[in-house]
Parts: sequence; structure tokens; C-alpha cells
Amino acid sequence: MITFDAMQETISFQSGNVDFIFNTSIEELLKNYDKNNLVIITNEHIARIYDHLFTGLHIIIVPVGEHAKDMHTIGMLTKELLQIGTARNTFLLGIGGGVITDITGFLASIFMRGVKFGFAPTSLLGMVDAAIGGKNGINIGLAKNILGTINQPEFILFDTHFLKTLPAIEWSNGFAEIIKYACIFDVSMYDELCNNTISTYKDDDRLLFDLIKRCVAWKTKIVGEDEQEKGNRKLLNFGHTAAHAIEHLYELPHGKAVSIGIVIACMISENSCGLNPLVTKRIRQLLQQFHLPVRMEINTGKAMEILKMDKKRNNTNIDYVLLKEIGNAQIKPMPFIEIEKALNLYASNH
Ligand SMILES: NC(=O)c1ccc[n+]([C@@H]2O[C@H](COP(=O)([O-])OP(=O)(O)OC[C@H]3O[C@@H](n4cnc5c(N)ncnc54)[C@H](O)[C@@H]3O)[C@@H](O)[C@H]2O)c1
Repeated sequence: MITFDAMQETISFQSGNVDFIFNTSIEELLKNYDKNNLVIITNEHIARIYDHLFTGLHIIIVPVGEHAKDMHTIGMLTKELLQIGTARNTFLLGIGGGVITDITGFLASIFMRGVKFGFAPTSLLGMVDAAIGGKNGINIGLAKNILGTINQPEFILFDTHFLKTLPAIEWSNGFAEIIKYACIFDVSMYDELCNNTISTYKDDDRLLFDLIKRCVAWKTKIVGEDEQEKGNRKLLNFGHTAAHAIEHLYELPHGKAVSIGIVIACMISENSCGLNPLVTKRIRQLLQQFHLPVRMEINTGKAMEILKMDKKRNNTNIDYVLLKEIGNAQIKPMPFIEIEKALNLYASNH
């Protein structure tokens, strides 16, 4: 079993070292910071709920939602940074969900050819996935994360107190990524999830903390071995190929799109990897147990148009992450025609 026991650990990636901080609150972190060079980027929700954190600090607030992850926001933030009078020693701290950490990491990577940055993820999805790994992307139109960098933050602060204010729907979105890790890497995590619900994790701080750390351990291990996504990092895209196609098309939250994407990947896996259909059925049940969707109507033609813009595509196929069994995933180039067939099959089973 993979473990991540230290409360603070510096992990070295090809593009930089990252401090993973588990034992410090956001209040303590901010107290010890040089406030002159610090600029906080957050969204309207977090700014309102946690306004007490931000007194006397430079803070820039972006609108809530995936729509903010675009060039317009990057332009707006750049202008505000210049107005504040920032220089190359500015430190950008993104406090928020995956949208905020993606925006902050992307901006920090290109502003004045790069300034230092850190993350304090506030959503479950951010803590288990989005804030980790150094991918920082924004969307252009329907093309998801099409502009991006691979660049590591100085630190990631895991203050689980933030989760006390996380809306119910965002808990289930976070579990989509957790179920992803369990399916591709970790049979015992999968078994644990099967025996629990969102409520059990919400009511048991220790159980939740251990689960978050286990996801962090998986992601750091994989990214540590393959930061540039030439090999096994691609496994983390399980469920994400179809998810990216439908996320913008139907304005779905990322976690919900990943849930549908996992079901579609399992259906393709039955044909292409010999996945037992009973496993697909059990994964569907698990997703539902965590209040995630497994069925929706999809316009296959429109979804395919977006899929063909995917970063993982070649001319006629896409590297698709498929499951042989729980804990055993593999990457296979799938011809567009096969993916289209699977989407049609999914749509007809709706
Ligand atoms: N860079 C990566 O490797 C990576 C990986 C996975 C996902 N992502 C990206 O992450 C994004 C999804 O992240 P997300 O699910 O966190 O979405 P999000 O950032 O939109 O946050 C979801 C909602 O929860 C609210 N929220 C967050 N924390 C809160 C808190 N503590 N209290 C109250 N409300 C809170 C936000 O305001 C927002 O309304 C997508 O854009 C996705 O592409 C990036």
C-alpha cells in the first residue's frame, strides 16, 4: 500500500520542488508571510466566506465558475497586478477550488515571464487532484485546458478546515477524482470506498484526512515519475477524455463530467480490454453511492467534434485510458470511430 506519512514533505519534480504542508492552517501560513509581495487570487465565494483572512492583504477576486478560466480573466488579473505595482518578486497565492489554482498557476507561469506561486486548495477536488502536479491550464471556447503550462508551485497547503463550508454538491464532485484513483491504482481504496459514503467521511476527520493523503501520495508518485506526461501520467486521465468533451458542452461541473466519463471508459474497456461487465456495474453503483451521475443524454456528433480537439489525440485516434480490472489500467490508442461507437452505445443505453 502507498503511504504519505510525513506532515510536511518536500517533493522534487523535474520542474521544481514543492512543499506539501498538512499541519498548518491558512491563518498561520498568512501570519508568517511577507505581506508586501503577496497577492492572493481567489473567487467571490471564498472572498465572502473567508473575508476575515484577507484584511490588509492584496487580494484579487475573480468570478465563480469554470467560465472564469479563460483569457479574459488572465487579462483582467494582469491589469490588476500592474495597478497594484507588482514586480518579479511578487508571490501569487491561489486560494480556492481547481478553477482558482489553475488560473493562478497559469498566470504566475507567464506574468513577467514567471513569478513564484503557491496554492491553498479549498475544495475536495482541489486537494486530491487539481492543485497537485503542476499542470496549470485555461480554456479557449470549448477547448478545455488548451493553453497551459507544467510548472510547480512553491507549496501546497492542505487545510481541511476549508471543507467545513464546501457545498454538498462539491463533495460528490471531489469523490469522482477519488474513485478515479481507486479504479486505476488502488484495490484497497476501492474496497474502502465501497464500504463508506460521503457522510462517513464528513463525520470522521481522520478517515477523510487519510483518504486525501492517499490520493496526494498517488498523484505525487505518478507525477514524480513522469511530470511531462510521456507515459504513466496519462493514466490519471481515466474518465477524462469523454469528460472534457461533455463538460463544456453541457456546462457540467468537472466531477460530474468525470463520473460520466468513467462509465464510458468502462464500456470501452469491456470491448477493448476484457473488463468484466460486472465491474462496470459495480463502479456505476459506487459513483451513485457518492451522488454522482452515471446516465445522461449526449449528442454524440457534438461530443466527437470537441473530442477531436483533445490534446491527447493523434490524427485518427486518442490515447484512451482503459481498465482491465480494478487497480489495473492501461493506455491504448483508440480510433475515433471506436470512440464514436462507444458514445452511441452509451447514448442508446441512456
Ligand atoms: N490542473 C489539474 O491538474 C486539474 C486536475 C483536475 C481538475 N482541474 C480543474 O479543476 C476545476 C474543478 O475544480 P473544482 O471542482 O474545485 O471547481 P471550482 O474551483 O469551480 O470550485 C467548485 C465550487 O466550490 C466552491 N468552493 C470551493 N471551495 C469552497 C469552500 N471551501 N467553501 C465554499 N465553497 C467552496 C467554489 O467557489 C465553486 O463554486 C476544473 O476547471 C478542472 O479542469 C485541474
